[in-house]
Parts: sequence; structure tokens; C-alpha cells
Amino acid sequence: MAANYKIKTLTEFIIERQSEYPHAKGALTRLLNDITTAAKIVNREINAAGLVDILGYEGKKNIQGESQKKLDVFANEQFIAALKGGAECCAIASEENEKIISFENEFSEMGKYVIAIDPLDGSSNIEANVSIGTVFSIYRRKTDAGEGGKVEDLLQPGINQVAAGYIIYGSSTMLVYTTGKGVNGFTLDPSVGIFCLSHPDMMFPETGSIYSINEGNYIYLDECIKQYIKYCQKEDKKTKRPYTSRYIGSLVADFHRNLIRGGVFMYPKTKKAPSGKLRLLYECNPIAFIAEQAGGKASDGFNRIMEVEPEALHQRSPLFTGPISMVEKIEEFIRKYKE
Ligand code: AHG
Ligand code: MN
Ligand code: MN
Repeated sequence: MAANYKIKTLTEFIIERQSEYPHAKGALTRLLNDITTAAKIVNREINAAGLVDILGYEGKKNIQGESQKKLDVFANEQFIAALKGGAECCAIASEENEKIISFENEFSEMGKYVIAIDPLDGSSNIEANVSIGTVFSIYRRKTDAGEGGKVEDLLQPGINQVAAGYIIYGSSTMLVYTTGKGVNGFTLDPSVGIFCLSHPDMMFPETGSIYSINEGNYIYLDECIKQYIKYCQKEDKKTKRPYTSRYIGSLVADFHRNLIRGGVFMYPKTKKAPSGKLRLLYECNPIAFIAEQAGGKASDGFNRIMEVEPEALHQRSPLFTGPISMVEKIEEFIRKYKE
């Protein structure tokens, strides 16, 4: 065994960083802890997804007629249960629930924070064993403590986020998060169930040579995006073009790859999805916060994602995110071909 190298665990890292927040009383630390606890349970279930049918049949015989739950419902329940028990969070907005879930018990009502979450992102990829994720935003509540959280606590622009992160369940499981002081990535050591700092101070490369978009939507795209795709495919040695096309269909996994390798992710509006597909509160905003903290940019084509004032919990938005230079290039095309 190596004698003199020291692994930094997520817990050690958080405690170390807490001194940077003089007024912090550890609430955020506990929230992140609750989220990672649920993530580990979800991770275990995802890893066994191939066995779910077998186990499901067995289970049906033993458990009183309870049907096997879809993994995204299971994940939702895990995150809700972990946060409800933690007393720091007074409400959640989740992709899986039409309305907010307000925690009305004497402990949670005193909680200062609310969370917007996509418990399982890219869930249609599960059967194919492709990377999926969880993505979340943490906000300070607007209403006074002493009652459950209200919808206005969650309808805040992304600039109000106090923390955001994602978990990627990939060839390894990672947590990547920011509290507004850079981005750090932690890999789960499955043998001991501990997240360890593996990617300190994550930054986008200055520019990249990957573009990520569902090109199957080509005929439904606006002219500006069609032209940008042509630009990506055109040869130019100076700008490393033609770019490589990479698209998994899991926002978290596509973004994560682009953050590491250098690339731009796009989900524009289309004729079929006139406001885009991704949700502002629990997909675009947390990714935007991480992107900016990693030296990148996130835009809806015209505006900074984090400045958009949300009007509805499940509001959709176009999303363009990646290194600043790449996102600005797309914005240039959008302005040029404005229809
Ligand atoms: P979810 O599984 O939470 O519904 O999210 C799926 C999202 C996102 O992860 C991905 O970027 C996008 O849907 C893919 O959509 P297309 O299949 O339309 O490309
Ligand atoms: Mn999603
Ligand atoms: Mn989802």
C-alpha cells in the first residue's frame, strides 16, 4: 500500500471550505450530505438495473403485490426522503412532481433552503447502460421560516443559487458541485462508499472541438442553428474544425464530457419544442452555475440563463453551454440569422 499519499474525502473538503464562509453554520454541509446519501442509494439501484426484472419478479412474490418502481420515481423518493429528514430544506421542486413538495413538520419548517432537482436525468438511457445523472440547485428561501416552503421560494432566478451540482452515474460515479467558489469533482470509491476529491478546480478548456446536439431534430431547427452546425462541420485548421459530434442524450453526461474535453452543448428551440426541451429550474440553472464557475458560459441564445426570471416551476428554456468563445459563436449565428 502507498504510504504517503492522502486522499481527501468530500466531508474533509467541505469542512475545510466551511471556514471560507464565516457565517456558515453547517446547514449547507448537511444538505450536501443528505443529497450524497440519497445519491449513493440511487447509484446502488442503477448498478443493479440489469437485475431489476429478475429481482422484481422475486420481490413481487414476497412483498404484498407492490409493483416494481421505475428508477426515476425511485430516485425521486430517495432524494425527497433524505431531504425531508434533514431539517435544512423546507421545500423541493422536482421534475417528477407537478407541484412543489413542502415539508410541513416542525423541523423542516425552520429550514432555510429549498432545492430544485431532476432526480434522474437521461432516464430513457437506463436500459442501454448509458450514463445518467442527477442535477440540483440550492436556494435560500424567500418566505420566513416557521412554515413549509412556498412556490415563490423556488421561483428564483439562477443568480440566487447558493450551490448547484450534479451526480453522474457513469463508468465511475462522480459528484461535481459549486458553491460559487469554483467547481470541484469527487469520485465515489464504491468499495467504501465515500466520495473522494479527484477533480479539483475544474475549468473548461479555453475552447474545444466537440459539438453536442440532437441532429435528428435538424429539419425542425431554426436556420441559425442549421448554419452553426454547418460551421462546426467546415474545415478550418486554426479553429480545429471540423469539430467532432458527440451526443449521449443525458444532459449531465453530455455536459460533463464537454467540461472535461472542451465542447459546446446545445438544446435549442425547435418547431416541435418551441421553448426548447430542458427545464430552467432544475436542468438549465444548475448547469449554468457550474458552467460559469468553470470559466464557461450558459445562454438561452440571447440572455444569460441565470438572469432569466422564472414564472413557472416546469418552465422550459433553450440552452447553449460550454467554453465562452464557443457559446458566443452560437450567439453570433443566432443574431445574424434572426428570423
Ligand atoms: P430526463 O431524462 O430528466 O427527462 O431528461 C432528458 C433530457 C436531457 O437529459 C437530454 O439532454 C435531453 O432530454 C435529450 O433529449 P432528446 O432525446 O430530445 O435529444
Ligand atoms: Mn433531465
Ligand atoms: Mn429526469
